[in-house]
Amino acid sequence: MSQHLFLPLVIFVISPIPGAFQDSALSPTEEPEDLDCGRPEPSARIMGGSDAQPGAWPWQVSLHQGGGHICGGSLIAPSWVLSAAHCFVSNGTLEQASEWSVLLGVHSQDGPLDGAHVRSVAAILVPDNYSKVELGADLALLRLTSPAKLSPTVRPICLPRASHRFAHGTACWATGWGDLQEEDPLPLPWVLQEVELRLLGEAACQCLYSRPGPFNLTFQLLPGMLCAGYAEGRRDTCQGDSGGPLVCKEGGRWFQAGITSFGFGCGRRNRPGVFTAVGPYETWIREQVMGSEPGPAFPNQPQESQTGPWESREENCTIALPECGKAPRPGVWPWEAQVIMPGSRPCHGTLVSESWVLAPASCFLDSITSDNPPRDLDAWRVLLPSRTRSERVSRFVPHENATWDDASDLALLQLRAPVNLSAAPRAVCLPYPEHYFLPGSRCRLALWGRGEPALDPSAQLEAELLGGWWCHCLYGHQGASVPPPGHPPHRLCPYYQEEEEEAGRCWNDSRWSLMCLEEGTWFLAGIGDVSSGCLRPRAFSPVQTHSPWISHVTRGAYLEDQLAWDWGPEGEETETQTCPPHTEHGVPIATIVSILTPRLCHCLYQGILPPGTLCVLYAEGQEDRCEVTSAPPLLCQTEGGFWVLMGMAVRGSQELFAAIGPEEAWISQTVAEAHFLPPSGSPYWPPAGSDLCPPDMAGASGSPQAAALILLLLTPLIQD
Ligand code: ARG
Repeated sequence: MSQHLFLPLVIFVISPIPGAFQDSALSPTEEPEDLDCGRPEPSARIMGGSDAQPGAWPWQVSLHQGGGHICGGSLIAPSWVLSAAHCFVSNGTLEQASEWSVLLGVHSQDGPLDGAHVRSVAAILVPDNYSKVELGADLALLRLTSPAKLSPTVRPICLPRASHRFAHGTACWATGWGDLQEEDPLPLPWVLQEVELRLLGEAACQCLYSRPGPFNLTFQLLPGMLCAGYAEGRRDTCQGDSGGPLVCKEGGRWFQAGITSFGFGCGRRNRPGVFTAVGPYETWIREQVMGSEPGPAFPNQPQESQTGPWESREENCTIALPECGKAPRPGVWPWEAQVIMPGSRPCHGTLVSESWVLAPASCFLDSITSDNPPRDLDAWRVLLPSRTRSERVSRFVPHENATWDDASDLALLQLRAPVNLSAAPRAVCLPYPEHYFLPGSRCRLALWGRGEPALDPSAQLEAELLGGWWCHCLYGHQGASVPPPGHPPHRLCPYYQEEEEEAGRCWNDSRWSLMCLEEGTWFLAGIGDVSSGCLRPRAFSPVQTHSPWISHVTRGAYLEDQLAWDWGPEGEETETQTCPPHTEHGVPIATIVSILTPRLCHCLYQGILPPGTLCVLYAEGQEDRCEVTSAPPLLCQTEGGFWVLMGMAVRGSQELFAAIGPEEAWISQTVAEAHFLPPSGSPYWPPAGSDLCPPDMAGASGSPQAAALILLLLTPLIQD
């Protein structure tokens, strides 16, 4: 049968774009307008979108399998639905057409779909070269067992010819019943969602995908793929929208430019959605539907749409930077929020979006009375940086486990009116569940809950993140397996200096949140664990496990991808690590070091060290085996087998330790049960003068006097 059989009226037109028909098997034709397409009845997730009006997108269909919505699709002719191949191919095999049904003219999928127009599927057609989404050709045609009955809510969409060009920057619309955000399904009553997406030129899109994004991945776009969305993310299609249409209006008609295919997460920065471009498949579509009448309509592109900003090589590459987590300097937090409630101390929380503050639920515990909303919400006020007036609170949402699980001691407070985010106030960035804060990350502690300001905040609140292994094994169990990078940690351990004079107090009644810095952007990484007591290092509960809950409630919190991926060889290790058996007080072994003679130490540092400083030398290649950069206590084993605490790390140095010996009197006074060994030619002997040094000592390595081990202890006491 000739393909011209059903195109009796053949009009040759001159293509306005040279070479435009080269991928079309058909001669350039003007079809009879027997099928009116792309026009919804006048009047009448998707992530970051909103409810559609009934009948606004009459070509949108829902594809069901096993009684539930799986994918979207579009009606292109009474007997044909266009969708995505990956909806029907699993493990390389095409599913049975009989398992699928097509729902037409639906708006809300809640309740019995009696009124809905349902058709079963006679055949599913997928291009021969389709293998998996990332390799393109992600489209499918479904032939219905009987033609759909066209009505105001059931109408076909127009298809673009291969020669059709959609100008980049064009505002188009994607529709579907997919998730509202990653792992956040559309809630009842399952109303069709719509979102406006802008077409991105190929170069602009490739530029975004060439930069490492989520999971440190980049991606090479292929011909036949189309990007739509925004560099800044936040609006996108998501799981369940696949197969659905991306449509653009031209000359009063809607044309389907793309088919929802895939993405990296949903709505992430610099990761716009990837669609199957429909135009390039004109020939394939025509071949499949051949002989069925009426077939899909491929109207000519309207004249006025044929000019526009086309793709050019010079097209600029505009990468979006994080909008959250920028602070003028550490400790000045533009997201710091104070919740004021009558009759109680202010509660410190964090601004996570234009409208939401995250704070510990325990601040409001007296107000959480069963499931009733707090009665005095009207009287609550929120103070934000650079805002002259306080904000009022309209909603209070405690975490469901808030009252019995410390790690879930969280509540979200919605502001009555959203605030404009700028330099201040600004939202903090929240980590995705798979975030891996690198050991050694620079962190800071910030006020959290009813905490009291530190005496000297600048000195006290700097912290450095310890490796997951240390933290997990200190707080975990013998033989427990350590969550590998990319799996949410159970705990985060920052190493920080506390006010030494008040060590006994150990901030018992203060709570802190943990902010960690990545590439100049601050993340809310953890919230203080009350239950960890005075153990060192202090453990924080990771916030990343709660980010899905936070984004579910707020629908706009700033989740930000990991920005630093410099894992080094350790991080890439995929072998599961297990915790070693615990000794009574600590975890064995970190690194073997040698203690230099006082003279050598003194000479090496050219007399600048206070008396009693111990210098150590790491065995070759051992420096970077030590996961903490400024450190753990220095321990030595005596001939009698006793472990002796020799020194405490000097801040900021891996090589210098303050000797414990000179503090004997103070320590025994404070800790009665501390054991001291009698001095034996103490290595913290104060050196006499620099004239003892050999003439050229700078950089020299000396002969080690004693072998020692650096251990990280839970208590700075001598082990016996
Ligand atoms: N593959 C998804 C589906 O099967 C669609 C994902 C679209 N994702 C995106 N970020 N644009 O429903």
